[in-house]
Amino acid sequence: MSNTQEYVEWFRGAAPYIKAHRKKTMVIMISDEVIYSDRFIGLVHDIALLNHLGIKLVILHGSRNSIDKHLAANRLQPRFHNNIRITDSETMPFVVQAIKEVKTYFESQLSMGLPNTPMSGSEISLIGGNFVIGMPLGVIDGVDMQHSGKVRAIKHEAIKELLALNHVVLLSNLGYSRTGEVFNLPTEELAGEVARALKADKLVFVQRERADKDSLASTLSTNQCEELLANAATPEDLKSLLQQAILAIQAQVKRVHIIDQQVDGGLLLELFTRDGYGIMVTNLFYEGSRAANIDDIGGILGLIEPLEASGVLVVRSREQMELEIRHFQVIEKDGMIIACIACIPDQAENLAEVACLAVHDDYQRSGLGNQLLQAVELQALKNGIAQLYTLTTRSSHWFIEHGFNEAADFTLPAAKRESYNPERGSKILTKSI
Ligand SMILES: CC(C)(COP(=O)(O)OP(=O)(O)OC[C@H]1O[C@@H](n2cnc3c(N)ncnc32)[C@H](O)[C@@H]1OP(=O)(O)O)[C@@H](O)C(=O)NCCC(=O)NCCS
Repeated sequence: MSNTQEYVEWFRGAAPYIKAHRKKTMVIMISDEVIYSDRFIGLVHDIALLNHLGIKLVILHGSRNSIDKHLAANRLQPRFHNNIRITDSETMPFVVQAIKEVKTYFESQLSMGLPNTPMSGSEISLIGGNFVIGMPLGVIDGVDMQHSGKVRAIKHEAIKELLALNHVVLLSNLGYSRTGEVFNLPTEELAGEVARALKADKLVFVQRERADKDSLASTLSTNQCEELLANAATPEDLKSLLQQAILAIQAQVKRVHIIDQQVDGGLLLELFTRDGYGIMVTNLFYEGSRAANIDDIGGILGLIEPLEASGVLVVRSREQMELEIRHFQVIEKDGMIIACIACIPDQAENLAEVACLAVHDDYQRSGLGNQLLQAVELQALKNGIAQLYTLTTRSSHWFIEHGFNEAADFTLPAAKRESYNPERGSKILTKSI
């Protein structure tokens, strides 16, 4: 493919995401390792682009490494309890200094007007303020956490007003109490709290490169996050992000993304390409399948065509699809059909055929096939159907693992016999429900 074609295809591919993200609220936490890396300037450019595409942005900068450096430079030992920094009176001034330094650097980089970049001349209006009300963490297991705090409230209405005016809100990990005290807050936790308070559409963590990245699935449900949390081999820093992801999703944040900046533009890849770039946590797939309608036919055909071409599924014409569409269930992601199933009832015989089960390659092995099968079983039960059958050439084991049995003596219903092609050598499997 020529470069021009690739560009055109990429741009067209990004179009649904540009439309979907417009006016949406994203809370993005960027670790200070990334902020002080040579990839940061690319990220600044991408943030400007998101702002110009009409995305409402709240950005939180991390400061963990900078705090450690300041403490080390002043010969102070960092102290932690349960992985949370203990901020005592001696270290607090250096903590505040480190946080302010990162914030100032961040603001300076976002004020550059981005010379010699595609976003040259674009202005971003960054606004910070006392939007976070903190309170002391108190004494944990007998350890006084002193100036380490937690979030008491987020002034979300004030933040929303600024976002509506197209300002980018920049938050540091400091909280102010009603009595005028200042607390050092864990940034990941604060990012999660802000996303929940704003009911953001997305919470994004931009972190250092992860060594374990390839061993993790690119899409996780909160159940899978729980499993990772229970696994002793999961690194602590990932656990704290997964915990925030679960809380955010439970509070109606739609998606949480964990990405690094190993490649320039990782954030754009994650937000504007179907395959993404990092790890996405969502339960959206698990909210259930839905009944298909006539507008889904194109998407279903796109999904099953490669399987028809390779002989896995029987070829269905568009006309046949139109007749059968009301028997289909689909799962959709970002406007694309990623899984489908049909359950075609034969009321006279009190049974139904399970057919055309397909899950897009990128989303297999995450339970979608199982979810669709459960959905049609439930539907069949409601319609008083007592038995399911399916004809399959390659997936008999999958169906057997889902309660089907080989049924050599099963007689196909008369209506099915007409279209049955014995040359395919399909196995007939049945399941009583
Ligand atoms: C079969 C299919 C629908 C399963 O979808 P899925 O969403 O990946 O299924 P689930 O996540 O619920 O289950 C995944 C498990 O089934 C297993 N599996 C997938 N295809 C299988 C097959 N053909 N035979 C046996 N097991 C299979 C996977 O290995 C996985 O098990 P594991 O994680 O223990 O290894 C999907 O693989 C697919 O679309 N295949 C191509 C089309 C097809 O064969 N359709 C059935 C024709 S009737």
